[in-house]
Amino acid sequence: MSETENASPQKKSSNDYGVAYIKTFPDDLSKFKGLLDDFLRAVPTKSKVLDIGCSNGSYVAYLLKHGYDAFGIDISLSMLEEAKKHVPSERLFLMDMHTMEDLGESTFDAVLSITSMLYANKEYLPRVLKQVHRLLKPGGKFLLMMLEGEGDGLIKHSNGESEVVTYTTYYEVDELKQRVRAGGFEIDQERLTNLVVSSHAEISLFCTKQANNA
Ligand SMILES: C[S@@+](CC[C@H](N)C(=O)[O-])C[C@H]1O[C@@H](n2cnc3c(N)ncnc32)[C@H](O)[C@@H]1O
Repeated sequence: MSETENASPQKKSSNDYGVAYIKTFPDDLSKFKGLLDDFLRAVPTKSKVLDIGCSNGSYVAYLLKHGYDAFGIDISLSMLEEAKKHVPSERLFLMDMHTMEDLGESTFDAVLSITSMLYANKEYLPRVLKQVHRLLKPGGKFLLMMLEGEGDGLIKHSNGESEVVTYTTYYEVDELKQRVRAGGFEIDQERLTNLVVSSHAEISLFCTKQANNA
């Protein structure tokens, strides 16, 4: 396995996975819209916002509709093809969250990662957080959602008609907070929710970039 595949196990099956994911979760915005709206209260309109793991583009489209200068990246080509139906293609990038150097430094006012960094191997999370820290302007806002639990593994999601298997890492709340703080972020708010049918609660951390990264 190459280093990138090791860092992003989803990469290996990303295209088939993308099609199956969209079939299994056709409407991914509605579950987390309230949470996203709460996060956006701290982000003025016209701000530059990046959605990491933008999937079918529904969050990017929502941000554009509400006056944000929004962009999305995803590792799955089929996800991005779907996203292009709702979002201008120049706002979407086929990119791995572990290697976002091309997006520059202090580029964004806010970054979202809603259940996408749970696809990063645990040992690589610090590297991804470092990249987010670099991409954010001073005082920039970061919304991170992960799933609560221990360890990692393959998880099967089904809606009765379609199913998709994903590699997922789980975090205890304190473990995740410690990693995020070590990455140079202050945690302004944390929430535990059960918005998706799953035996794992969602942990959402509303964060602000601190000046001095570890
Ligand atoms: C569980 S989906 C979440 C999508 C959306 N954020 C939501 O809340 O519904 C995770 C997304 O992250 C993408 N992804 C997985 N590994 C990635 C990586 N290494 N770099 C960029 N995107 C990745 C997947 O292709 C998928 O679209």
